Amino acid sequence: MKRLIIVSNRLPVKIEKNDEKLEVIPSAGGLATGLKSYHKSNNSLWIGWPGLNAESRKEENQITTLLQKEACLPVFLNENLIENYYDGFSNTILWPLFHYFIEYCKFKEDFWQAYKKVNEIFAEAIIANANENDTVWVHDYQLMLVPEILKRKRPDLSIGFFLHIPFPSYEIIRILPWREEILNGVLGADLIGFHTYDYARHFISSVKRLLGHDVDFNKINLENRQIYIDVFPMGIDYKKFEDKALEIQTKPIQERSKEHQDIDRFLLSVPNRKLILSIDRLDYTKGIPARLKAFRHFLRNHPEYKERVSLIMLTVPSRVDVKQYQDLRSEVEKLVGSINGYYGTINWNPIIYFYRSMPFDNLIELYSSADIALLTPLRDGMNLVAKEFIASKINHKGVLILSEMAGASKELGEAIAVNPNNIGDVSNAIYKALIMSDEDQKKSITAMQDRITRYDVYKWASDFVEALHKTEEKQAEYQARKVSVSLKTKLKDAYENANQRVLFLDYDGTLQRFFDTPKAAVPDAELIRLLNILANDTNNELVLISGRDQQTLNEWFGDKNYTIIAEHGAWIKEKHANWRERNPKKSNWKENIRPILESYVDRTPGSLIEEKTHSLVWHYRKADIELGVLRALELRANVSNLISNQDLEILEGNKVIEIKVSGINKGSAAIEYLTDKTFDFLMAIGDDWTDEFLFKELPKNALTIKVGTDKSAAKYYVDSYKDVRTLLKSFIENN
Ligand code: UDP
Ligand code: G6P
Repeated sequence: MKRLIIVSNRLPVKIEKNDEKLEVIPSAGGLATGLKSYHKSNNSLWIGWPGLNAESRKEENQITTLLQKEACLPVFLNENLIENYYDGFSNTILWPLFHYFIEYCKFKEDFWQAYKKVNEIFAEAIIANANENDTVWVHDYQLMLVPEILKRKRPDLSIGFFLHIPFPSYEIIRILPWREEILNGVLGADLIGFHTYDYARHFISSVKRLLGHDVDFNKINLENRQIYIDVFPMGIDYKKFEDKALEIQTKPIQERSKEHQDIDRFLLSVPNRKLILSIDRLDYTKGIPARLKAFRHFLRNHPEYKERVSLIMLTVPSRVDVKQYQDLRSEVEKLVGSINGYYGTINWNPIIYFYRSMPFDNLIELYSSADIALLTPLRDGMNLVAKEFIASKINHKGVLILSEMAGASKELGEAIAVNPNNIGDVSNAIYKALIMSDEDQKKSITAMQDRITRYDVYKWASDFVEALHKTEEKQAEYQARKVSVSLKTKLKDAYENANQRVLFLDYDGTLQRFFDTPKAAVPDAELIRLLNILANDTNNELVLISGRDQQTLNEWFGDKNYTIIAEHGAWIKEKHANWRERNPKKSNWKENIRPILESYVDRTPGSLIEEKTHSLVWHYRKADIELGVLRALELRANVSNLISNQDLEILEGNKVIEIKVSGINKGSAAIEYLTDKTFDFLMAIGDDWTDEFLFKELPKNALTIKVGTDKSAAKYYVDSYKDVRTLLKSFIENN
C-alpha cells in the first residue's frame, strides 16, 4: 500500500535533555502544531530534525526509539550544519527575505553550502525509507531543494511541496543570489501548495520571469512534465480546540488548574475587567514592539481603562541563537518594563508578560478567558493562533483584531482588520473591540467559526494529498500516450510497411526550437538533410504546414521537393508547382488593425509586429512575460470589438496574437490537399493549438503527435522538437 511520508525540518515533537534525561516535548510553530493531528490519524511517517545535537551513537539510538513511538524518524545534524543551515541559510536568509526583512539577510556562501548539504541528507533519508510509488509531502522553506533531488533520484515517488510562509514578490526573490537553484529545487514537486492566492501568484510570476517557463494559469509546463500550483489555506484541528474549551469551561471552579483560577480571580477582582491576549513565537515578523507601542498609545488615550484592561502577552522562545531574535527579546522586555513602569499601579500591570511556551490546556484557558485577541504580525504566512482563538470561543463572545498582513486575514474577514504599522489604527481597533456589543461579537465569531470548522486541518491535508494524486493521474495519462521505445518501433514498422506516405510537419516548436524573433529560426543543416532524405523517398510526400509567412518559407524551402502550406493554410505550394492563394480575399482591414498593434508595440517593450498576406501578428516572446500576457488579454478584447462584423478572427498561438482572415486553418488546408490522393500512412506532428485543427480534421487512421504537455486531440505525445527529429531519423535509419 502507498504510504504518506511527511518531511519537515521541525518534527511535531522535539527532544530536550534535562538533567541527562532525554524528554519528548511538543514543538511550537504552526507547521508542527497544525499537521500533528493529521499525522496521528494517518498511517504516515514523519521525517525531520529532532531539535537536539546527539552526543553519541548511543544517544542517537535512544532518540530514534523515543521518536518511533510518535511515528517519527530523526535526521541528525551536527552543530556546524545547524549553525549554517538552520540559523544561517534558513533563518538569516530565507526567513527574513520571504518576510520582506531584507536588511536582516546575510548572504554567505557557507550558509548556502550547508543548506545544500542538509537538503541532500534529508533526501537520502527519504529515499532510504520510501517504498516504490510512495507519496512524499515536503514542507517549508528549510527544505526547498529536496523535491528536485527526489525527482531526479526517485522519479517513481509522488512529490508534494507546501510553503508555510509567504512567497514574496518577484522584486524581493530576485535579490537572492541562489534564486534559480531555490526555484528549480521546488519545481521537483508535482504539486506546490501555498496558503494564499497572493503567494501562489508571486511564485508563478518568479518562475516565469526568472526561469522563463511557460505557465498556463496554475500549471507550469516543463519540457517533459507538468507541475500544478494551488492554494490550500491551512486549517486547525477545530474539534480538539472546541472540545477542550468546553471541558475547561464546564469544570467546577475548584477543579480548574492553578493558572485558570488565577485568570478567573484576576478578571473577577475588578468589575467589568477585560483581558487582551496575544500569543506568538518571539519573532520580528510578529510585530511585537509595534503592538506594545499601540497598546501604550491606547492607555495614553483612554485613561478610563486604567486597571480595567490588561494585555497578556505569551511570547514563545524561538531561534535563540540568531542575533536578531536576541536583540528583539531585549527590545520587547525593555518596552514591557517601561510601559508597566509608567502606567502600572500597585494592583495592576497593564502587560502580563511570559517568555516561555505553555502546555495545551493552559493555551485553551487563555483563549477562552480572553475578551480580545490582538494579533498584529507585520508579515505572517498564515497565523494559526487566530483560528485557534476563534475555535475556542464556544460561548461566541470575543473579538479578534487581526493584521491584514497575516495569511489568515483572507479567511477571517469578520475580524477587525488592522495595518500593524499604523499604531493609531491598532489603538482604535482595541477601543472598538472593547465596546463591541455582545450581539456583534456573536455575529462575527459564528461566521468565522462556520468557515474554519469546515476547512479544518484534516480537510486541508486530505485536499492537498488528493490533489497530488490527481496530478499523478494526469501525469500518468500523458506518460501513457507518450512515444515510448516500443511505440517508436511500432511507428517505424507502420512507416516501413506502407507504400504511400504523407507527413504533415509543423515547423516552429516541432522541427525547430523557438528563437526570440521568428526570422532567427533558420533551418540548420542537420534538419535540411533529414527533411531532404524523407522527401526524396519516392513513397513519401512531405508537407510542411506552418503559420509562418509565405515569403520566409519560400526563401527557406521554395527550392525543395516538399509541399509547403503557409500562413495557417492561406497559401499552398504543392511539390514542383507554384504558390497558390487558397482563399484570396483582399481588403483594407489591415489599415485599421495595424495602428492598434503598433500602439501595443510602443507600450510593450520587446514585442513586435509581423505581417503576413492574410494576417497581422503581434509577437511578445521577447517582452517581459507578465506584461506580455496582460497586454495580450487587453489586445484580444480590444480587437474583438473591432472585428465583430468583419470576416476576421483572432488566433492565439505560443506568445503570439494573430488577427487573420477567417475560415483558414491548417485542418481545412490539409483536407483540401488530401482530396483525390490516397495514402496508407498519414502522420501529423505539431506543438501549437493551431495544430489542433489538423489533428481533429485528419482521417481517424492518421498518426497524430503533439509536442509538449498541453491537452491535445493528438493520439501521442513527445517532449520536444528534439524527439521529433529523433523519431523521423529512426524512419530513415536502416535496422
Ligand atoms: N503554540 C504552542 N505553544 C505555545 C504557544 C503557541 O504550541 O506556548 C502554538 C500555537 O497554538 C500555534 C502555533 O504555536 O498552533 C503557532 O502557529 P502560528 O501559525 O500562529 O505561527 P508560527 O509560529 O507558525 O509562525
Ligand atoms: C514557522 C515555520 C515553521 C517552523 C516554525 C517554528 O511556522 O513556517 O517551519 O517550524 O515557524 O520555527 P522553528 O525554527 O522553531 O522550527
